[in-house]
Amino acid sequence: MAKPLFRGVIRKHFNSRAKVILYPGDANDFLCTLPDDSVHLIVTSPPYNIGKPYESRVTINNYLDVQSRIISELCRVLRKDGSICWQVGTYVKDGEIYPLDIPYYHIFKRFKLVLRNRIIWYYEHGLHASKRFSGRYECILWFTKSDEFTFNLDAVRVPSKYPGKRHYKGSKKGKLSGNPKGKNPSDVWKIVKHDWENIIWNIPNVKANHPEKTPQPCQFPVELVERCVLALSREGNWVLDPYAGVGSTLIAALLHKRRAMGSEKDPKYYKLAIKRLEDLRDGTIRLRPLGTPVYQPTGNEKVAQVPEIWKRRSRAY
Ligand SMILES: C[S@@+](CC[C@H](N)C(=O)[O-])C[C@H]1O[C@@H](n2cnc3c(N)ncnc32)[C@H](O)[C@@H]1O
Repeated sequence: MAKPLFRGVIRKHFNSRAKVILYPGDANDFLCTLPDDSVHLIVTSPPYNIGKPYESRVTINNYLDVQSRIISELCRVLRKDGSICWQVGTYVKDGEIYPLDIPYYHIFKRFKLVLRNRIIWYYEHGLHASKRFSGRYECILWFTKSDEFTFNLDAVRVPSKYPGKRHYKGSKKGKLSGNPKGKNPSDVWKIVKHDWENIIWNIPNVKANHPEKTPQPCQFPVELVERCVLALSREGNWVLDPYAGVGSTLIAALLHKRRAMGSEKDPKYYKLAIKRLEDLRDGTIRLRPLGTPVYQPTGNEKVAQVPEIWKRRSRAY
């Protein structure tokens, strides 16, 4: 059996010596039990008010008021050197889209947080729209509480496209032109293609055949959170997800020796989160490891006939 990734009990209530806490209930009731300035990193994805099974749809203003109250509490518990990663997509009403990162930006600014990155997380799978272009990205707003914050770039570098490239003139002639540890993953978390090894890296969203798939419809891929955890926190730090769902943030935190806490009000997702945390503890959890290459077509796949319009288009160039 694989080595356990953490030991000890999964607590339900805050305890400063705990390693992992998952509160079975409303985030408001949990957050008010946390001390001021205690959490190093918050990574979360709030309900989007789009009528998912775990939310009742309200007007956009009511929705944002409720979230403002939670954000105010999150700012209180966040340490002065801490970060918040707020992951959101788009609210759609009567065919019109409302990118939620726009109003959320103004809410966080009211609490004097500083925006460090607006990360675009691109993924390939989703609904096929017929009256607009299909949505294929969501945003992660990364805010800090002050100018003192953790940013471990080396922990999240990705392979450079041409790792052996050298300066060909000047004082650095012959020396490697890029960082041998890899490059900055940038603020667009997309497919990265490396011709030299013929691999493609990306962070796919959790759809039917993803190894982490559970019945939670908006589940984080653990590797998405791992990048935030590795870059924005240190070992032993507290990582919090007030909307824990099936526990993906807690899992990513524990995988990298952080302490993890969260709250989840839906008993179905709460139970699944506890089961995943127990599987993590036992070393039996199914995860897609960070940096897994995606399937590469061999060229022998059965291909549908190329439509005439594409043939005409490729002849035109
Ligand atoms: C967008 S999902 C987050 C899923 C999560 N990122 C994961 O990987 O499973 C939002 C979650 O927040 C929960 N939720 C909604 N309102 C809540 C509240 N007031 N307190 C606690 N949990 C809440 C929902 O039940 C849902 O599981």
